[in-house]
Amino acid sequence: MNNHHTHEELKKHRQAGRILAEVREKTAKKIVVGASTLETATFAEDLIRSLGGQPAFPCNLSRNEDAAHYTPGADDTLVFGEDMVKLDIGVHIDGYIADSAMTVDLSDHPELVEASTAGLAAAINMIHAGINTAEIGAAIEREISEFGYKPIANLTGHGLGRYLTHAPPSIPNIPIRGGTVLVEGQVVAIEPFATDGAGRIRDTQRSEIYHLVTENPPLPRIPRARALLKEIIEYRTLPFAKRWFSREKIDFTFRNLEKSGLIESYPVLTEVTGALVSQAEHTVIVTADGCEVTTG
Ligand code: CO
Repeated sequence: MNNHHTHEELKKHRQAGRILAEVREKTAKKIVVGASTLETATFAEDLIRSLGGQPAFPCNLSRNEDAAHYTPGADDTLVFGEDMVKLDIGVHIDGYIADSAMTVDLSDHPELVEASTAGLAAAINMIHAGINTAEIGAAIEREISEFGYKPIANLTGHGLGRYLTHAPPSIPNIPIRGGTVLVEGQVVAIEPFATDGAGRIRDTQRSEIYHLVTENPPLPRIPRARALLKEIIEYRTLPFAKRWFSREKIDFTFRNLEKSGLIESYPVLTEVTGALVSQAEHTVIVTADGCEVTTG
């Protein structure tokens, strides 16, 4: 996988980033106490399409101790309360992805929000071709700990490949040994998470987001599963939401595809001690002497 992009590819990354920035700002305004999570996610995804992009993954609206990967289900009646909401959006143009997140805080913890935002700003300020990802992780942790919080150690930023939301390299949010040197033209998402808990997440049993395991899977024999898989193949290996498909016995069919090893779920990730989590994320193009934020 070549993660170094040509001029034409970078144009598509930038276009995806511009759409994302507009969708993020407009969707953030919809996140208020009493608003429906399902309507909010649908609003964001429809707006992406109407602006000429495609969702690179379902709109994530993880709340409070949930750090990532919550998107509403088809019949979800959940409304926002006085929550710390992580709005995480992905947009792609022809497979070239922009990924960005912000925290909409209805819970009145401004310093926790500020900690992840400041961690992201510190990373963006230091990125340039030739920097080691270990230096970025160290700077993010230093910044977040100045606010008295911890980064989430087992969540990282990542490269963005064509139709690939989590390409190498991973960008740590803590100091690490080794690391990877970033090169000019590389597109990466930086995403610090801050918490007043232990600074680790674990999988839950909940999942509404899935992805195809391989791009050209064998088609199942059962007609219902076969028909669904044919629709899923359109998303390549990008994450998709169960609610994007409306048909009878959808839960049964999803379980069937999952058991066959054709699709995999992304479980909701929650902080191990149940503490609040904030997040900030931008996608950047690495340049010789700095970086260009595509989702600013
Ligand atoms: Co990301």
